[in-house]
Amino acid sequence: MREELDELLNDIAGRVFKSAEEVEAFRVEFLGRKGKMKDLMSQFRDVAPEDKRELGPLINKVKGAVEERVALEQAAFNRKVETKASGVDPSRPAGGVPQGTHHPLQVVRREIVGIFKNMGFGVVEGPEIEDDWHVFSGLNFPPEHPARDMQDTFFVERNPDLLLRTHTSSVQVREMEKRKPPMRIIMPGRVFRNEAVSARAHCMFHQIEGLYIDKGVSFADLKQNLLHFAQKFFGPDTKIRLRPSYFPFTEPSAEVDVYWGLETEVDKKITKGTGWLEILGCGMVDPNVLEVNGIDSKKYSGFAFGMGIERIAMLKYQIGDLRLFFENDKRFLDQFKGER
Ligand code: PHE
Repeated sequence: MREELDELLNDIAGRVFKSAEEVEAFRVEFLGRKGKMKDLMSQFRDVAPEDKRELGPLINKVKGAVEERVALEQAAFNRKVETKASGVDPSRPAGGVPQGTHHPLQVVRREIVGIFKNMGFGVVEGPEIEDDWHVFSGLNFPPEHPARDMQDTFFVERNPDLLLRTHTSSVQVREMEKRKPPMRIIMPGRVFRNEAVSARAHCMFHQIEGLYIDKGVSFADLKQNLLHFAQKFFGPDTKIRLRPSYFPFTEPSAEVDVYWGLETEVDKKITKGTGWLEILGCGMVDPNVLEVNGIDSKKYSGFAFGMGIERIAMLKYQIGDLRLFFENDKRFLDQFKGER
């Protein structure tokens, strides 16, 4: 009987199964009501008592080997069935991990900052929660100026001297407090205004402010710096024009347009038929602002400018709705794959 058991063990190990049905037949052959294990058990009853001690474990070994094969093979065939049904093969090599994208505002901010860095500007940031001095008073806003109005500014209810900055010009004031001219810095950051959210306006957006103060800084320097920026950003043939404007903290002040063109219907629409598009506000730092911030306006002069990052990004990528920047819709963001 020992030889028979050894042969069975060999047989079990050597079996090859081509289908789940074959596995089932194998199971019945050994473990079924009239199966080989049954036979072995009845033979075992007649074995001499002195041999039982040796043959008992061997029979158990055969039974264990059968059960193990059956379990393994059944599992393998079940897996194959699942794969067919779901179309997924869980044993295939893993695919790549999907990569995120840089947010278009981040891409544009980095590009603008990079251009000014190459021109020798340093980068400075300031707080988003500010006080009246840094956002308004230190920038020559008269006490009754409409920008201070509840309608434009978010005030902190518990302490009305605290507010969310409405522009990054507040960082100018902080820097003038901290150091002496010459200074040549750009100040990117988030700003807040109490406006109804629409395709063209949002209660939160981003600006980049620039400030250059030194001896003998002139309006010509301002214009040349901005022309250089526009040509780096929009292309070497870009034309700009300056239109007179007003800001409390600059005198004279201007708004800068780039020539966009009038070729298509879209060009006509976005430039309102003029071919020109406004990109930023700027001017010579008002001597009052220099003086209240401790800088001698007879010795020093400077220029400042400020632009909205969303506005520039909308022009660069031809995006028609500002809200898209803040919704984080993957379908929108995925279009900026590869931009850095
Ligand atoms: N702070 C101005 C604004 O938010 C922009 C600006 C900055 C204009 C610096 C002139 C000089 O509209």
